[in-house]
Amino acid sequence: MAEKWPWRPIVVLEESNFMTKRIRKAVFPVGGLGTRFLPATKAMPKEMLPVVDKPLIQYAVEEAAAAGIEEFIFVTGRAKQAIEDHFDVSFELEHMLKERGSDARLKDVRDVLPASGRVAYTRQGEALGLGHAVLCARELVGDEPFAVLLADDLFLSEKPCLQQLVEAHDRTDGNVVAVMDVPREQTDRYGILDVGTEEGDMVEVKGLVEKPSPEEAPSNLSIIGRYILRPEIFEFLAERRTGAGGEIQLTDAMARMIGDKPFHGVRVQGRRFDCGDKLGFFEANLAFALRRDDMAEGVRRILKDYAGS
Ligand code: UTP
Repeated sequence: MAEKWPWRPIVVLEESNFMTKRIRKAVFPVGGLGTRFLPATKAMPKEMLPVVDKPLIQYAVEEAAAAGIEEFIFVTGRAKQAIEDHFDVSFELEHMLKERGSDARLKDVRDVLPASGRVAYTRQGEALGLGHAVLCARELVGDEPFAVLLADDLFLSEKPCLQQLVEAHDRTDGNVVAVMDVPREQTDRYGILDVGTEEGDMVEVKGLVEKPSPEEAPSNLSIIGRYILRPEIFEFLAERRTGAGGEIQLTDAMARMIGDKPFHGVRVQGRRFDCGDKLGFFEANLAFALRRDDMAEGVRRILKDYAGS
Protein backbone atom coordinates (compact mmCIF):
# COMPACT_ATOMS: atom_id res chain seq x y z
CA MET A 1 0.00 0.00 0.00
CA ALA A 2 2.68 2.48 1.09
CA GLU A 3 4.63 1.83 -2.11
CA LYS A 4 1.71 2.91 -4.27
CA TRP A 5 1.28 6.38 -2.82
CA PRO A 6 4.18 8.20 -4.42
CA TRP A 7 2.83 7.24 -7.84
CA ARG A 8 -0.80 8.26 -7.52
CA PRO A 9 -0.45 12.07 -7.65
CA ILE A 10 1.82 11.81 -10.67
CA VAL A 11 -0.73 9.76 -12.59
CA VAL A 12 -3.55 12.16 -11.68
CA LEU A 13 -1.51 15.17 -12.81
CA GLU A 14 -0.68 13.58 -16.13
CA GLU A 15 -4.32 12.73 -16.72
CA SER A 16 -5.63 16.21 -15.95
CA ASN A 17 -2.93 17.78 -18.10
CA PHE A 18 -3.88 15.49 -20.96
CA MET A 19 -7.56 16.40 -20.56
CA THR A 20 -6.96 20.13 -20.93
CA LYS A 21 -4.99 19.72 -24.12
CA ARG A 22 -7.00 17.12 -25.97
CA ILE A 23 -8.65 18.29 -29.18
CA ARG A 24 -12.20 16.98 -29.10
CA LYS A 25 -14.08 19.38 -31.32
CA ALA A 26 -13.70 20.33 -34.96
CA VAL A 27 -15.35 23.17 -36.84
CA PHE A 28 -16.14 22.76 -40.53
CA PRO A 29 -16.89 26.16 -42.07
CA VAL A 30 -19.09 25.38 -45.07
CA GLY A 31 -20.93 28.68 -45.38
CA GLY A 32 -18.97 30.06 -48.37
CA LEU A 33 -20.66 30.82 -51.67
CA GLY A 34 -18.27 28.80 -53.85
CA THR A 35 -18.47 31.32 -56.68
CA ARG A 36 -15.50 29.81 -58.50
CA PHE A 37 -17.60 26.72 -59.16
CA LEU A 38 -20.75 28.43 -60.44
CA PRO A 39 -23.09 27.31 -61.89
CA ALA A 40 -22.45 23.94 -60.15
CA THR A 41 -22.72 25.62 -56.75
CA LYS A 42 -25.89 27.59 -57.44
CA ALA A 43 -28.05 25.07 -55.57
CA MET A 44 -25.41 22.61 -54.35
CA PRO A 45 -22.70 23.19 -51.72
CA LYS A 46 -19.13 23.28 -53.03
CA GLU A 47 -18.23 20.93 -50.18
CA MET A 48 -20.51 18.25 -51.67
CA LEU A 49 -18.55 18.13 -54.93
CA PRO A 50 -17.26 14.55 -55.21
CA VAL A 51 -13.65 13.54 -55.60
CA VAL A 52 -14.18 10.22 -57.38
CA ASP A 53 -17.26 9.09 -55.42
CA LYS A 54 -16.99 10.82 -52.06
CA PRO A 55 -17.91 14.44 -51.31
CA LEU A 56 -15.12 16.75 -50.18
CA ILE A 57 -16.75 17.26 -46.78
CA GLN A 58 -16.72 13.53 -46.09
CA TYR A 59 -12.95 13.36 -46.61
CA ALA A 60 -12.58 16.17 -44.07
CA VAL A 61 -14.90 14.52 -41.53
CA GLU A 62 -13.08 11.18 -41.88
CA GLU A 63 -9.72 12.93 -41.43
CA ALA A 64 -11.02 14.59 -38.27
CA ALA A 65 -12.40 11.32 -36.88
CA ALA A 66 -9.05 9.62 -37.59
CA ALA A 67 -7.36 12.35 -35.52
CA GLY A 68 -9.59 11.63 -32.52
CA ILE A 69 -12.24 14.32 -33.01
CA GLU A 70 -15.49 13.47 -31.22
CA GLU A 71 -17.70 16.46 -31.96
CA PHE A 72 -18.32 17.78 -35.44
CA ILE A 73 -19.57 21.35 -35.79
CA PHE A 74 -20.73 22.54 -39.19
CA VAL A 75 -21.17 26.23 -39.92
CA THR A 76 -23.55 26.20 -42.84
CA GLY A 77 -25.37 28.76 -44.95
CA ARG A 78 -27.84 29.10 -47.78
CA ALA A 79 -28.24 26.07 -50.08
CA LYS A 80 -26.23 23.79 -47.76
CA GLN A 81 -29.05 21.41 -46.77
CA ALA A 82 -27.42 18.58 -48.71
CA ILE A 83 -24.59 18.49 -46.15
CA GLU A 84 -27.03 17.80 -43.29
CA ASP A 85 -28.79 15.16 -45.36
CA HIS A 86 -25.48 13.52 -46.22
CA PHE A 87 -24.60 12.99 -42.55
CA ASP A 88 -28.08 11.73 -41.67
CA VAL A 89 -29.75 8.33 -41.94
CA SER A 90 -31.53 7.68 -45.23
CA PHE A 91 -34.08 4.99 -44.33
CA GLU A 92 -35.48 4.50 -47.85
CA LEU A 93 -32.02 4.20 -49.40
CA GLU A 94 -30.80 1.77 -46.74
CA HIS A 95 -33.97 -0.30 -47.08
CA MET A 96 -33.65 -0.45 -50.85
CA LEU A 97 -29.95 -1.44 -50.73
CA LYS A 98 -30.74 -4.14 -48.15
CA GLU A 99 -33.55 -5.54 -50.33
CA ARG A 100 -31.19 -5.69 -53.28
CA GLY A 101 -28.46 -7.35 -51.24
CA SER A 102 -26.01 -4.51 -52.03
CA ASP A 103 -24.02 -5.00 -48.83
CA ALA A 104 -20.92 -3.06 -49.87
CA ARG A 105 -22.99 -0.04 -50.92
CA LEU A 106 -25.05 -0.24 -47.74
CA LYS A 107 -21.83 -0.17 -45.74
CA ASP A 108 -20.60 2.89 -47.70
CA VAL A 109 -23.83 4.71 -46.88
CA ARG A 110 -23.77 3.75 -43.19
CA ASP A 111 -20.07 4.47 -42.67
CA VAL A 112 -20.73 8.14 -43.42
CA LEU A 113 -22.68 8.64 -40.21
CA PRO A 114 -21.01 10.13 -37.13
CA ALA A 115 -22.41 8.84 -33.82
CA SER A 116 -25.79 10.24 -32.74
CA GLY A 117 -25.57 13.52 -30.86
CA ARG A 118 -22.02 14.20 -32.03
CA VAL A 119 -22.93 16.51 -34.91
CA ALA A 120 -24.06 20.11 -34.54
CA TYR A 121 -25.10 22.62 -37.16
CA THR A 122 -25.18 26.35 -36.87
CA ARG A 123 -25.97 28.87 -39.55
CA GLN A 124 -23.74 31.71 -40.71
CA GLY A 125 -26.61 33.66 -42.20
CA GLU A 126 -24.44 35.95 -44.29
CA ALA A 127 -21.15 34.83 -45.84
CA LEU A 128 -19.02 37.55 -44.21
CA GLY A 129 -15.76 35.61 -44.38
CA LEU A 130 -14.00 32.59 -42.89
CA GLY A 131 -13.29 34.40 -39.60
CA HIS A 132 -16.98 35.17 -39.24
CA ALA A 133 -17.88 31.53 -39.97
CA VAL A 134 -15.55 30.35 -37.18
CA LEU A 135 -17.00 32.99 -34.82
CA CYS A 136 -20.46 31.51 -35.42
CA ALA A 137 -19.23 28.28 -33.75
CA ARG A 138 -18.24 30.08 -30.53
CA GLU A 139 -21.04 28.80 -28.29
CA LEU A 140 -20.71 25.26 -29.60
CA VAL A 141 -16.94 25.17 -29.10
CA GLY A 142 -16.90 26.77 -25.65
CA ASP A 143 -13.69 27.33 -23.74
CA GLU A 144 -11.33 24.71 -25.16
CA PRO A 145 -8.82 24.44 -28.02
CA PHE A 146 -10.42 23.17 -31.22
CA ALA A 147 -9.65 22.21 -34.80
CA VAL A 148 -10.81 23.92 -37.98
CA LEU A 149 -10.86 22.02 -41.28
CA LEU A 150 -11.58 23.56 -44.67
CA ALA A 151 -13.03 20.80 -46.81
CA ASP A 152 -11.81 22.33 -50.04
CA ASP A 153 -8.22 21.63 -49.01
CA LEU A 154 -7.88 17.90 -49.58
CA PHE A 155 -4.85 15.88 -48.46
CA LEU A 156 -3.25 12.70 -49.62
CA SER A 157 -0.83 11.66 -46.92
CA GLU A 158 0.30 8.63 -44.98
CA LYS A 159 -0.61 10.26 -41.69
CA PRO A 160 -3.82 12.33 -41.85
CA CYS A 161 -3.01 16.04 -41.93
CA LEU A 162 -5.00 16.88 -38.79
CA GLN A 163 -3.28 14.06 -36.90
CA GLN A 164 0.06 15.73 -37.74
CA LEU A 165 -1.26 18.96 -36.22
CA VAL A 166 -2.65 17.21 -33.14
CA GLU A 167 0.78 15.67 -32.49
CA ALA A 168 2.44 19.08 -32.90
CA HIS A 169 -0.14 20.60 -30.55
CA ASP A 170 0.70 17.95 -27.93
CA ARG A 171 4.26 19.31 -28.02
CA THR A 172 3.44 23.04 -27.80
CA ASP A 173 -0.05 23.50 -26.32
CA GLY A 174 -0.42 26.70 -28.36
CA ASN A 175 -1.91 27.56 -31.73
CA VAL A 176 -0.76 25.39 -34.62
CA VAL A 177 -1.53 25.73 -38.31
CA ALA A 178 -0.64 23.50 -41.25
CA VAL A 179 1.78 25.16 -43.67
CA MET A 180 3.30 24.44 -47.06
CA ASP A 181 5.52 26.29 -49.52
CA VAL A 182 3.61 27.87 -52.40
CA PRO A 183 5.01 29.43 -55.58
CA ARG A 184 5.94 33.07 -54.89
CA GLU A 185 3.56 34.35 -57.58
CA GLN A 186 0.62 32.74 -55.71
CA THR A 187 1.07 34.39 -52.29
CA ASP A 188 -1.90 36.68 -52.99
CA ARG A 189 -4.22 33.67 -52.73
CA TYR A 190 -3.23 32.58 -49.21
CA GLY A 191 -2.45 33.54 -45.62
CA ILE A 192 1.36 33.88 -45.51
CA LEU A 193 3.74 33.45 -42.56
CA ASP A 194 6.45 35.75 -41.33
CA VAL A 195 8.81 33.03 -40.19
CA GLY A 196 10.79 33.00 -36.93
CA THR A 197 13.00 30.14 -35.74
CA GLU A 198 12.59 26.69 -37.26
CA GLU A 199 13.03 23.35 -35.53
CA GLY A 200 12.37 20.15 -37.45
CA ASP A 201 8.92 20.44 -39.01
CA MET A 202 7.90 23.28 -36.63
CA VAL A 203 8.16 26.90 -37.68
CA GLU A 204 7.68 29.73 -35.20
CA VAL A 205 5.06 32.18 -36.47
CA LYS A 206 6.31 35.77 -36.07
CA GLY A 207 3.60 37.33 -38.19
CA LEU A 208 0.73 36.52 -40.55
CA VAL A 209 -0.51 38.40 -43.61
CA GLU A 210 -3.65 37.55 -45.58
CA LYS A 211 -3.21 37.46 -49.36
CA PRO A 212 -0.08 39.65 -49.69
CA SER A 213 1.25 40.50 -53.14
CA PRO A 214 4.39 38.50 -54.11
CA GLU A 215 6.51 41.66 -53.57
CA GLU A 216 5.13 42.25 -50.08
CA ALA A 217 4.91 38.63 -48.89
CA PRO A 218 7.24 37.99 -45.91
CA SER A 219 7.83 34.41 -47.17
CA ASN A 220 6.24 31.89 -49.48
CA LEU A 221 5.11 29.67 -46.61
CA SER A 222 1.33 29.49 -46.73
CA ILE A 223 -1.31 28.42 -44.23
CA ILE A 224 -3.42 25.64 -45.65
CA GLY A 225 -6.87 24.64 -44.45
CA ARG A 226 -6.10 22.93 -41.12
CA TYR A 227 -5.82 24.76 -37.80
CA ILE A 228 -5.76 24.06 -34.07
CA LEU A 229 -6.73 27.23 -32.27
CA ARG A 230 -7.04 28.34 -28.69
CA PRO A 231 -10.48 29.66 -27.69
CA GLU A 232 -9.07 33.21 -27.20
CA ILE A 233 -9.41 33.55 -31.00
CA PHE A 234 -13.13 34.22 -30.46
CA GLU A 235 -12.41 37.43 -28.55
CA PHE A 236 -10.54 38.83 -31.56
CA LEU A 237 -13.08 37.55 -34.08
CA ALA A 238 -15.91 39.10 -32.06
CA GLU A 239 -14.54 42.55 -32.90
CA ARG A 240 -15.61 41.76 -36.49
CA ARG A 241 -12.79 43.72 -38.08
CA THR A 242 -12.77 43.36 -41.85
CA GLY A 243 -9.62 42.71 -43.86
CA ALA A 244 -8.68 41.55 -47.37
CA GLY A 245 -11.69 41.52 -49.71
CA GLY A 246 -13.83 43.30 -47.09
CA GLU A 247 -14.26 39.95 -45.26
CA ILE A 248 -13.76 39.06 -41.59
CA GLN A 249 -10.53 37.10 -42.00
CA LEU A 250 -9.43 34.28 -39.72
CA THR A 251 -5.80 35.08 -40.51
CA ASP A 252 -6.13 38.63 -39.16
CA ALA A 253 -7.55 37.41 -35.84
CA MET A 254 -4.79 34.77 -35.61
CA ALA A 255 -2.16 37.43 -36.28
CA ARG A 256 -3.38 39.32 -33.22
CA MET A 257 -2.85 36.27 -30.99
CA ILE A 258 0.86 36.04 -31.82
CA GLY A 259 3.12 36.63 -28.85
CA ASP A 260 0.68 35.62 -26.17
CA LYS A 261 0.89 31.83 -26.43
CA PRO A 262 3.17 29.67 -28.59
CA PHE A 263 2.17 29.87 -32.26
CA HIS A 264 3.64 27.46 -34.77
CA GLY A 265 3.31 26.42 -38.36
CA VAL A 266 3.76 22.71 -39.01
CA ARG A 267 5.27 21.74 -42.34
CA VAL A 268 2.84 18.90 -43.01
CA GLN A 269 3.84 15.82 -44.95
CA GLY A 270 1.77 14.80 -47.93
CA ARG A 271 0.15 16.26 -50.98
CA ARG A 272 -2.46 18.96 -50.84
CA PHE A 273 -5.07 19.68 -53.48
CA ASP A 274 -6.79 23.06 -53.60
CA CYS A 275 -10.25 21.82 -54.50
CA GLY A 276 -11.71 25.33 -54.29
CA ASP A 277 -9.96 25.85 -57.63
CA LYS A 278 -11.06 24.01 -60.79
CA LEU A 279 -7.64 22.74 -61.79
CA GLY A 280 -6.82 21.65 -58.24
CA PHE A 281 -10.15 19.83 -58.06
CA PHE A 282 -9.52 18.10 -61.37
CA GLU A 283 -6.04 17.04 -60.26
CA ALA A 284 -7.44 15.65 -56.99
CA ASN A 285 -9.87 13.49 -58.95
CA LEU A 286 -7.00 12.13 -61.02
CA ALA A 287 -4.75 11.47 -58.03
CA PHE A 288 -7.46 9.75 -55.98
CA ALA A 289 -8.71 7.68 -58.95
CA LEU A 290 -5.15 6.52 -59.68
CA ARG A 291 -4.99 5.08 -56.15
CA ARG A 292 -8.14 3.01 -56.63
CA ASP A 293 -7.72 -0.64 -57.63
CA ASP A 294 -11.01 -0.54 -59.53
CA MET A 295 -10.05 2.56 -61.53
CA ALA A 296 -6.27 2.99 -61.85
CA GLU A 297 -5.85 0.95 -65.02
CA GLY A 298 -8.76 2.61 -66.81
CA VAL A 299 -7.60 6.08 -65.81
CA ARG A 300 -4.07 5.38 -67.07
CA ARG A 301 -5.51 4.23 -70.39
CA ILE A 302 -7.59 7.41 -70.70
CA LEU A 303 -4.59 9.58 -69.83
CA LYS A 304 -2.49 7.84 -72.46
CA ASP A 305 -5.18 8.42 -75.09
CA TYR A 306 -5.45 12.10 -74.25
CA ALA A 307 -1.68 12.62 -74.00
CA GLY A 308 -1.48 11.89 -77.72
CA SER A 309 -4.12 14.44 -78.70
P1 UTP B 1 -13.20 30.29 -49.88
O1 UTP B 1 -12.22 31.35 -49.64
O2 UTP B 1 -12.81 29.21 -50.81
O3 UTP B 1 -14.57 30.96 -50.34
O4 UTP B 1 -13.58 29.67 -48.46
P2 UTP B 1 -15.85 30.34 -50.98
O5 UTP B 1 -16.95 31.32 -50.86
O6 UTP B 1 -16.15 28.98 -50.40
O7 UTP B 1 -15.47 30.07 -52.52
P3 UTP B 1 -15.25 31.10 -53.75
O8 UTP B 1 -13.94 31.78 -53.48
O9 UTP B 1 -16.41 32.06 -53.81
O10 UTP B 1 -15.20 30.20 -54.93
C1 UTP B 1 -12.78 28.73 -47.78
C2 UTP B 1 -13.64 27.95 -46.80
O11 UTP B 1 -14.27 28.85 -45.89
C3 UTP B 1 -15.68 28.70 -45.92
C4 UTP B 1 -15.99 28.07 -47.27
O12 UTP B 1 -17.21 27.36 -47.23
C5 UTP B 1 -14.78 27.20 -47.50
O13 UTP B 1 -14.91 25.94 -46.86
N1 UTP B 1 -16.32 30.02 -45.76
C6 UTP B 1 -15.87 31.08 -46.46
C7 UTP B 1 -17.39 30.14 -44.91
O14 UTP B 1 -17.82 29.16 -44.25
N2 UTP B 1 -17.99 31.36 -44.80
C8 UTP B 1 -17.57 32.44 -45.48
O15 UTP B 1 -18.16 33.53 -45.30
C9 UTP B 1 -16.48 32.31 -46.33
